[in-house]
Amino acid sequence: MSNRLAQPDFWNRQLAERMAEMAEIRAAGPFARTSFINPLTGETEQFYGVTRYADVVEISKRPHDFCSGKGAVSVPDMPEEALNFFGSFINMDDPRHARQRGIVARSFTPRQLQGVLDSVETICTEVIDGFCADGEADLVTAFAQPFPLLVICDMMGIPRSEFDTVLTATNVILGGGDPEFMGDGDPLEALFTAGLALTGLMNELAEDRRANPTDDLTSKLVHNDVGEDMLDPSEIAPFFILLAVAGNDTTRTAISHGMNLLALNPDQRRAWQDDLDAVSPTAVEEIVRVASPVTYMRRTATRDISLSGQDFVEGDKLVMLYGSANRDERVFADPERFDVRRDPNPHLGFGGPGPHFCLGAHLARREVSVAFRQLLTRLPDIEVDSPPVPLQGMGMPLVGGIKSLPVSFTPSDPLGSH
Ligand code: HEM
Repeated sequence: MSNRLAQPDFWNRQLAERMAEMAEIRAAGPFARTSFINPLTGETEQFYGVTRYADVVEISKRPHDFCSGKGAVSVPDMPEEALNFFGSFINMDDPRHARQRGIVARSFTPRQLQGVLDSVETICTEVIDGFCADGEADLVTAFAQPFPLLVICDMMGIPRSEFDTVLTATNVILGGGDPEFMGDGDPLEALFTAGLALTGLMNELAEDRRANPTDDLTSKLVHNDVGEDMLDPSEIAPFFILLAVAGNDTTRTAISHGMNLLALNPDQRRAWQDDLDAVSPTAVEEIVRVASPVTYMRRTATRDISLSGQDFVEGDKLVMLYGSANRDERVFADPERFDVRRDPNPHLGFGGPGPHFCLGAHLARREVSVAFRQLLTRLPDIEVDSPPVPLQGMGMPLVGGIKSLPVSFTPSDPLGSH
């Protein structure tokens, strides 16, 4: 129980430093038994950090034995009332999960999302236009944060005027307790307020789209004129909260870490920048592997069970450490090396094989690819000026974010996207 996985100062450090300690935890064994203080109750509890690739795959594949629907996929259980009100299908098991995911997935195929995938290019151009003439910027606030959020807001049909509401609320929900986002008040209350803001916004939009459907995703999810199974009104807002948090902070974190990884590895940057077309597909996967933006997902043992020589009892919490699994020496050669041409690269950054595998992986890949293509062609000499400022969370953050990343570059003219 002597590891520091649950301590804020483990996560509030630079990626390479924390991953060096993670390698020691992984070497010590496949399951890192860890004590933590539940911030919601003040009680001491424990979880098992799952450090190795093979076990993350196995747990992801066996939802009957390792479920998502007991307590939540976060380390502390979510209070019952929060799950009832805001809980989305990431915290559910089949058949409820399969029903809701199935409805959404029909509108989430690359074909159905063609318009959104095309708009990624235009939105990226627009966001870079906003700072490219300045010669310097905080890449997180100027680019990595607004870009994916605008994509999701446009996809759902959220008006631009509500952008700040969505940004503030998602920062609270995934800020890991960072006081800059949470304020000084009660964390649980801040979470509820943020959830309510998004719920109110989405309920209003859903009601409007029921009466006046457009071609946005919200309309597809609420408009039922073909007798198909649709999301219930009470399921729409939790789905939006899931999308806003799952699709926004993750992509932001991938882009921010990606830029910093290029700064730390100039040879890799040169290789990518010299041949964007050929290298982009593998470079994007390598960023997701090395950054592992989603730090963990939790599962709960549904019965007494053993795995890789360890006995678990019903109710035990297994926390899959994606950053560790993605550096498992048994699978990845020279795992600490950032290699933009790594191939094969069977990383688990979008989750292991199983029913909860990231629904937005193709959108995320497109966003990260377009982001670097545009940054490296429009601002070819962009440089990181000082180390990234990590999120100052209260414990183990679900998404291991970067709050700011100062960059500078030769100013260039906006292209104009209209
Ligand atoms: C680099 C960016 C991203 C990363 C690293 C990422 C990673 C993940 C991971 C690890 C999971 C959990 C998988 C599991 O439990 O087995 C997940 C689930 C999910 N992701 Fe992503 N994601 C990213 C971007 C996105 C985007 C852009 C969207 C949508 C706009 C999205 C939507 C979702 C949804 C809806 C789920 C829940 C799926 C379910 O429970 O069935 N993600 N993602």
